[in-house]
Amino acid sequence: MAVILGIESSCDETAAALIATDRRVLAHRLAGQEAEHRPYGGVVPEIAARAHVEAVTPLVEAALADAGIGLGDVDAIAATAGPGLIGGVMVGLVTAKALALAAGKPLVAVNHLEGHALSPRLADPALAYPYLLLLVSGGHCQLLLVGGVGRYRRLATTIDDAAGEAFDKTAKLLGLGFPGGPAVEKAAALGDPKAVPLPRPLVGRAEPHFSFAGLKSAVLRARDAGTYSAQDIAASFQAAVIDCLIDRTKRAIAGAPGATALVVAGGVAANGAIRGALQTLAHARDLPFVAPPLWLCTDNAAMIGWAGAERFMAGLTDPLDVAARARWPL
Ligand code: KG4
Ligand code: ZN
Repeated sequence: MAVILGIESSCDETAAALIATDRRVLAHRLAGQEAEHRPYGGVVPEIAARAHVEAVTPLVEAALADAGIGLGDVDAIAATAGPGLIGGVMVGLVTAKALALAAGKPLVAVNHLEGHALSPRLADPALAYPYLLLLVSGGHCQLLLVGGVGRYRRLATTIDDAAGEAFDKTAKLLGLGFPGGPAVEKAAALGDPKAVPLPRPLVGRAEPHFSFAGLKSAVLRARDAGTYSAQDIAASFQAAVIDCLIDRTKRAIAGAPGATALVVAGGVAANGAIRGALQTLAHARDLPFVAPPLWLCTDNAAMIGWAGAERFMAGLTDPLDVAARARWPL
């Protein structure tokens, strides 16, 4: 049994966690930056990087204290090395490198998407490879066949916006506040999903991909029409996103007969209506459905610690000069 320190800083959450290779979460700490970014209606990279600098060391110390261990008891140090806002990624990665050097521990550079992709396995020991993963976050919308650590076959991706980005832009257009996803979900619960006719981009098409830009433009037109409530637009938007996700996922299931389960991960997987629709689809296709608990869907360090643990167990560590990467496809 090994213990991995995980550090996450690729967007607007600074986080540190201690994860055991037997899946125990010994500690997980998170500092959000919502209040700092709210006045701008979105994440400001410079503000994010500075906030990560202030938060990261106290969070690592707090996580170690929570777990009742010292840095010497840790077997490896894992940090997000990309993709993400480069200033923030550098803060977490440099911190991890300094700790690894000082304590003489191996460094594991984790792809943030791999963190999301493997997070369901932290929560569910029974989840076996290969599984079909819908990865839906603020920056990505992909269908992947996850065959093992470092083995990802991308079946579909978005040709324009990510699903979370569409939620965030819709929230901004409707004046629902920041962060957008949870705000849209809350408003949608009070609205009529059939009230506003909105497009379902690429639904029914043979090509495997996603598209959400046209949906965002349609939301803008519905808002400017002045005849719909924000709740009705939010509910109709969410229903359209669900139809797109389900249609594309159905297509992927048909093309991945060996998948052990349908799995969802990433910040948008925190959406109850989306989880419910995916669960219904999995049930109809006789597939187990796996979704991590909500705290493990949005950005956190436990998923980075767990991906680090899977890599460490596979003998995959990285040199101290490994680079931070703004772009890093899985
Ligand atoms: O995975 P994540 O925390 O960060 C990235 O790696 O991008 O995902 C953040 C995204 C944001 O776009 C946020 O609006 C969305 O996930 N999100 C949601 C919900 N909670 C977070 N979208 C829809 N419904 C939610 N409840
Ligand atoms: Zn993320």
